[in-house]
Amino acid sequence: MKIKHILVVGSGIMGSGIAYASAVGGFETTVYDIEDESLDKARAYHQEMLQKGVHRNKISKETQATAIENLNYSTDLKESAEKADFVIEAVPEVQKIKQDVFEKLDQYAREDVILATNTSTMSPTEIGSYTNRPEKVIAMHFFNPVPLMKLVEIARGLETSDETAELVEAVAKQMGKETVLINEMPGFVTSRISSMVGNEAFNMLMEGVGTPEEIDKAIEIGLNYPMGPFKLGDLVGLDTRLSNLEYLHSTLGDRFRPSQLLVKYVKAGRLGRKTGKGVYDYNDN
Ligand SMILES: NC(=O)c1ccc[n+]([C@@H]2O[C@H](COP(=O)([O-])OP(=O)(O)OC[C@H]3O[C@@H](n4cnc5c(N)ncnc54)[C@H](O)[C@@H]3O)[C@@H](O)[C@H]2O)c1
Repeated sequence: MKIKHILVVGSGIMGSGIAYASAVGGFETTVYDIEDESLDKARAYHQEMLQKGVHRNKISKETQATAIENLNYSTDLKESAEKADFVIEAVPEVQKIKQDVFEKLDQYAREDVILATNTSTMSPTEIGSYTNRPEKVIAMHFFNPVPLMKLVEIARGLETSDETAELVEAVAKQMGKETVLINEMPGFVTSRISSMVGNEAFNMLMEGVGTPEEIDKAIEIGLNYPMGPFKLGDLVGLDTRLSNLEYLHSTLGDRFRPSQLLVKYVKAGRLGRKTGKGVYDYNDN
């Protein structure tokens, strides 16, 4: 099937980034949200990113113009889903919301349309079970910020068909992304490894192995990671890091037990850059 029109459900941090990649990739793109304010923010973000893209020679003026033409914003799910050839969901990571959205999408979208989820932790197999087309449901995990991050981690659920996986890979490639195709397990590849490293760094800090600066430097220079685990944790948000670990602990066992120091930071409201203080203090910057 030729994919022409992509619907992105949810226009927050991830949805707006995915819609950008979709429109720049040449797809007609509709972004749907329940909040007008969120759609307005997404529109402003798209204009700014496209402008920056041209200034930095990342995209041509023609691509900018086509992308602007390609982008539509809507608060009508039925109408948007009826004309979509492919759907990517990016609503909050809350089971009830995802279930409600997938049940509606299953009802409104054509039978042959793939319903992909950008979930970070939830099971595409379970999400597929909310629909009558589990063979067409798959996780398409983008990274933040989407315009800059090259990878899309594609995770098949139990019932996902080969045809679905192949089409999702092709769509991601047209958006200019690299892909990995994996079988669903909690945390996929990236969140599982990143959570493990981030947690171990907190354990080391608690044991007095080194300062945050020393531990980050060791990992950045010694292991060639672009960013140390504390800098990354502060960027992602320590509350998000903790909830990912709690989920991995409950599904994969004791090796993911959250470090008590991380728990304490979250209790104190030290959540990272977004609160001005996490492992590091950002108040003077
Ligand atoms: N933020 C990240 O770094 C990141 C990275 C990878 C994956 N994810 C996943 O992407 C998804 C979205 O995360 P986000 O960070 O963009 O969240 P966000 O809170 O920034 O955006 C969510 C958007 O969904 C909208 N929304 C709420 N209920 C809705 C509904 N019923 N129908 C349509 N829209 C609705 C909200 O108005 C909001 O605009 C989550 O599953 C998250 O786990 C996030």
